Amino acid sequence: MGIISTGCLLLIVLLSPTTSKVLPISEEDQLLYESFARKGVEKFNQQSNDAYRWELDRAWEVERSLSGGIHYSIFVTLVKMDCTKQQKRETCKKTDTLKKCLVEISRRVKRHGYGLKDVAHVRNCEEEFTRNIEKFNHRNIKLEHGNSITVQELRKAKIIKPRDYVIWNSFLDFIDRHDKQYDDKHEVLKRFRVFKKNAKVIRELQKNEQGSAVYGFTKFSDMTTREFKETMLPYQWEEPVYPMDQADFEKEGVTITEDDLPESFDWREKGAVTQVKNQGNCGSCWAFSTTGNVEGAWFLAKNKLVSLSEQELVDCDSVDQGCNGGLPSNAYKEIIRMGGLEPENAYPYDGRGETCHLVRKDIAVYINGSVELPHDEVQLQKWLVTKGPISIGLNANTLQFYRHGVVHPFKIFCEPFMLNHGVLIVGYGKEGRKPYWIVKNSWGPTWGEKGYFRLYRGKNVCGVQELATSSLIN
Ligand SMILES: *[C@@H]1O[C@H](CO)[C@@H](O)[C@H](O)[C@H]1NC(C)=O
Repeated sequence: MGIISTGCLLLIVLLSPTTSKVLPISEEDQLLYESFARKGVEKFNQQSNDAYRWELDRAWEVERSLSGGIHYSIFVTLVKMDCTKQQKRETCKKTDTLKKCLVEISRRVKRHGYGLKDVAHVRNCEEEFTRNIEKFNHRNIKLEHGNSITVQELRKAKIIKPRDYVIWNSFLDFIDRHDKQYDDKHEVLKRFRVFKKNAKVIRELQKNEQGSAVYGFTKFSDMTTREFKETMLPYQWEEPVYPMDQADFEKEGVTITEDDLPESFDWREKGAVTQVKNQGNCGSCWAFSTTGNVEGAWFLAKNKLVSLSEQELVDCDSVDQGCNGGLPSNAYKEIIRMGGLEPENAYPYDGRGETCHLVRKDIAVYINGSVELPHDEVQLQKWLVTKGPISIGLNANTLQFYRHGVVHPFKIFCEPFMLNHGVLIVGYGKEGRKPYWIVKNSWGPTWGEKGYFRLYRGKNVCGVQELATSSLIN
């Protein structure tokens, strides 16, 4: 048997294409993949901290790849049992609680002798959910104008296929969690299809992640990647309209050497960073990136943290384009022209372009100049620890589905010359052997790591060093 399998393995290696695809499991393969998956679940029960036993509910989809053996990724649902791992298995019953996981199986030819060895483990488990079918059927989806529709009504239309069950559950949780409201049934179904497609995008990102980032459903999960780019990243960052001065480190008092740089550093701990803000459905990231830098520079110069108005920049900066995009390098010059920035509460944010209603006497903060920083991440560290948070341009394509961890995609997923988002570096550190930047985003505190993300440091990942700038305050 062992020998036959080995021969078969070789045949597969020779005949199969090297690219792999996630495929639904056919009825005849169900038993095979479920027996594979159970090996992973057994190990999961031995290793997890959970007191309760979990068993395989069902294997749904599989992806096969061939590299140094056969490798299966089996997408499964696990079901929680009503007994602990210590209790006898025979007495256990299934509960209504499920979770989605991935079981990884590597089949390798045994090093000595014949036969195959399977190594199985469970990973990427998502949050638990209930399968109580009554509850599921009666879940209400709110629509515009006080209307609503139940899942059962959608099921009647045969729109929910049995194998979509798990993803529907995730979609309903997403609607609840983010308080989504759609116009009508068609919009619900359209958004569901987008959501389902995004699940594949997420898997693809995860598979190609070199850092520790975990991708998953976020509040942007019902937008296609294209809609996301058009709304949140509408602007390709080009050369600034105003050319910028290069930073003179010596003149600005940045004298620290590379050897003296601390291992880790975080301006949030020193009170130089305001709370995480939310740009909404408006391409005004550039304004948030700019105010973040000025807030920090003002804190360092005057020892006072003032939250500043992005709306003033959206409305009154006549070089940039409000919700359609802009650049911090232009915004600094405009801040000088206007005489400064009003505080957030004097000129609050509403995420739409308005006519400028700047009140000069309310201006709280001024700047005296601005500079472009070297395209060198060590130089950026030196500036950061001495002068405060840094405004940067970034390729933010992979951030639509970022949950947590250190982002490090392959270059093709995040070209360093395609900058489309403005954010703020507030610190840096190291996770094991992975150096990272701590970056403040403007997508609200529920996104990412409480509104922040971490980005691999030292390899110009996603163009982090390409357009770093700072204001100067005397
Ligand atoms: C910085 O700018 C402010 C406001 O425009 C101005 O009052 C101040 O004199 C400037 N400082 C220097 C040293 O140029």
